[in-house]
Amino acid sequence: MSRKILVTSALPYANGSIHLGHLVEYIQTDIWVRFQKMQGHECHYVCADDTHGTPIMLRAEKEGITPEALIENVHKEHNADFADFLVEFDNYHSTHSVENRELAISIYKALKANGKITSKTIEQYFDPVKNMFLPDRFIKGECPKCHAKDQYGDSCEVCGATYNPTELINPYSAVSGAAPVRKETEHYFFKLSECEGFLKEWTRSGTLQNEAANKMGEWFGNGLNDWDISRDAPYFGFEIPDAPGKYFYVWLDAPIGYMASFKNLCAKSGLDFDEYWKKDSTTELYHFIGKDILYFHALFWPATLEYSGYRKPTQIFAHGFLTVNGEKMSKSRGTFITARSYLDHVQNPEYLRYYYAAKLNGSMEDIDLNLEDFVARVNSDLVGKYINIASRCAGFINNRFDGRLSKELPIQWAQQLKHEFMSPETWQKIGLFYVDRDYSKAIREIMRLADIANQYIAEEEPWKLAKLPGSEERLHQVCSLAINIFWLLTIYIKPVLPKLAEQAQEFLQTGDNQMVWDQNSVLTNHQIRQYEPLVTRLDPKAIEAMVEANKESLQPVQPAPQTKQPEPAMEENTYISIDDFTKVDLRVARIVEANHVEGAEKLLQLTLDIGEEKPRNVFAGIKSAYDPATLVGRLTVMVANLAPRKMKFGMSEGMVLAASDERGGPFILSPDSGAQPGMRVK
Ligand code: 2FM
Ligand code: ZN
Repeated sequence: MSRKILVTSALPYANGSIHLGHLVEYIQTDIWVRFQKMQGHECHYVCADDTHGTPIMLRAEKEGITPEALIENVHKEHNADFADFLVEFDNYHSTHSVENRELAISIYKALKANGKITSKTIEQYFDPVKNMFLPDRFIKGECPKCHAKDQYGDSCEVCGATYNPTELINPYSAVSGAAPVRKETEHYFFKLSECEGFLKEWTRSGTLQNEAANKMGEWFGNGLNDWDISRDAPYFGFEIPDAPGKYFYVWLDAPIGYMASFKNLCAKSGLDFDEYWKKDSTTELYHFIGKDILYFHALFWPATLEYSGYRKPTQIFAHGFLTVNGEKMSKSRGTFITARSYLDHVQNPEYLRYYYAAKLNGSMEDIDLNLEDFVARVNSDLVGKYINIASRCAGFINNRFDGRLSKELPIQWAQQLKHEFMSPETWQKIGLFYVDRDYSKAIREIMRLADIANQYIAEEEPWKLAKLPGSEERLHQVCSLAINIFWLLTIYIKPVLPKLAEQAQEFLQTGDNQMVWDQNSVLTNHQIRQYEPLVTRLDPKAIEAMVEANKESLQPVQPAPQTKQPEPAMEENTYISIDDFTKVDLRVARIVEANHVEGAEKLLQLTLDIGEEKPRNVFAGIKSAYDPATLVGRLTVMVANLAPRKMKFGMSEGMVLAASDERGGPFILSPDSGAQPGMRVK
C-alpha cells in the first residue's frame, strides 16, 4: 500500500557554509527518501535555512549588510551545495518566511490559550556598550574551574566544565569587549514542566531509538524546566504578539520551519497541508537530526505540537557526529572541509555518498571519515568491484555483438545466480537495511553480490572465450549475464548513487519502469549503448590537496579581548607548530610581592620580577590554594608576552602557569633550584 510520508532534515543555520559534518545527515536522509520513493510511496522531503538569532544578526552587521541580505546570499549557497551533492529536497525554504511567521504566531497563541505560556522576570548579562542582552555564547571569561582564559559563558573548552555565565571570572562581552552588567528583563516561558506526563508517554510509543529514549530517561530524572522562548530586542526574528520588543527565541520558530516549508510546498503543488499536520493525521512524519539537538526535538517539539493542536512526529532519527581521521574536524589540521571545497578538489559527490553509506547505521554512534580508507574503499569497492562488472564485459557486447544482449542467459543463472541476485528475499533484505537506516549493511550485501559476480566472470574468463573458436555463444551469454547483474546492482545502490544510476540507465537503455525495486525480469535480446567509464578511480593526491588547502595557520598569540570575535563551535586546535609555540614568551619569575585583592573571590595580586627594569603586575586565580605570604620569594613561570588585560582591579600584565583539573589545584609551576628570574622557558 502506498504510504504518505513527510521527511525533514535539521535546518542549517544561515550564517555558515555547509561542511562535511552537515552532509552526513543530508546524505543519510536523502538516501532514505530516495528509497521510499522507489517503493512507490508518496514521500516529501522538506528543509529550510534556519535564519533567526543573534549570531546571524551580528554576522550581518559585521559584513555591513542587512540580515535579510545575508540570509538570501546563504540560501543561494546552501541550495547550490545541496544540489551538487544530489540531496534532492522537494522544497528548500526559509524560517524567515510568511508561512513561518503565521504558523509561529498561531502556535504561540494556541499554547497561550491552553495555559502553557507564562512570564517571569529574570536577570541576564547585558552589554552596556552594544545595548543588548548577551546570549551565553557571547560572554567570555575565565573558567571558574580550571581558570583557562577566554572561555564561553556556558562551558569551558579546556576542562569541559559547564556552568552559568554568572560564574565566569572577569566576564567580558565577546561583541564589544565591555564588562557585562546584570539586568532584569521579562521573559516568556513555555511550561514544559507541565508536559512531563505527556512526554513520558510519547517517549514510550516507539518514537525514539533506544539510546535516545535512555537519554530522555536521564532528562526526566533531572526534572523538566520551563523553556524560555523569548529574547529581547535587538534580535533578528519574529516579534511576539502583544509583547513589543520581545522576539521568539530562534529555537521556537526553527522546527515550525519544517511545517512552513511544507506549507510553501503545498501552495506550489496542491498538496493538502492539514492532511499531514492535523492532530489525527494518518500520514507519517520523520525528522532526521543530529544527536546534539535531541533535546529540542524530543522534548520541546512534541510538546509544542501537542499543546497547539497538531500531530506529533512518527519517529525521530538521531545520528552521531562526524570525525575525520578519528578526531573532531579541525581547521588547523585541514579537516574542517566545506561542501564546496570538497567539490572543488574531489569533484564527484558520489564518492562521499558511497563512503558515508558504507559507514552509517541506525544508531547515534559517531562515524569516522578516514581519508585514507575513503580513497581505498572508493577505489576497491565502487570502481574495483561494482563498476568492474560492466567495464570487463561491456566491450565484448559492444564490439562483438553490435551492442545486443543474448536471447538466453547461461544455465548458472537459472540454477543459482538468479536466487542470489533477484529473489524476493534479496530485495527484501536489502530493502529492510535501507528502511532501518542500516546502510552499511546494505552496502556490505551489495558488495558481497558484486564479489560473486566478479568471481563468476573470473571463472568464465570472457577474454579467453573471445579468442577460443566456437565459444561465441558462451561469450555472448556470459557477458550478457554480467550486464544483467550490473543492472540489478545498480538498482540496489540507486538510492546512494542516483547520478551514477541515471548514467547506467542511459548506457543500458532501460526505461524508468525498468529501474524499479523488486525487479523480476531480465534484459535479453536488448540493445545497449557504447560503454563509457562510469566512475574513475579517486586519486589520493586530490585528497591531499584538499586537506592542504583547508589548513588554516594558527592565530598569533591571543589578541586583547576587545578585538575578539566568537569562534565556530567546531573549531579546535590540538596541535600547534613549534613556530607557534615559540611565539609564547615563557619566563622564570620571582614572586616579589603577593596580596589579597579586595572584593575578588578568586584572585591574588602578584608582583613578578622577570629581570626587567619594571616588575610585572599579574592577577592570578590561585587564591583558593595559596596564602599570599607563603608565595613571596618563590620562583614560578609566567607568560610574559600576553597582551595586557584591563581588569576590574587593575591591569594584568601576564599570566602565571598553574596546573589544575577535577583532582585539585591550582598548583603553580616552579623551576628547579638554580633557575634565575628572566630566564626563557623553552
Ligand atoms: O543545530 C542546528 O544547526 C539548528 N539550526 C537546527 C535546527 S533544526 C529545526 F528544528 F529547525
Ligand atoms: Zn575550565
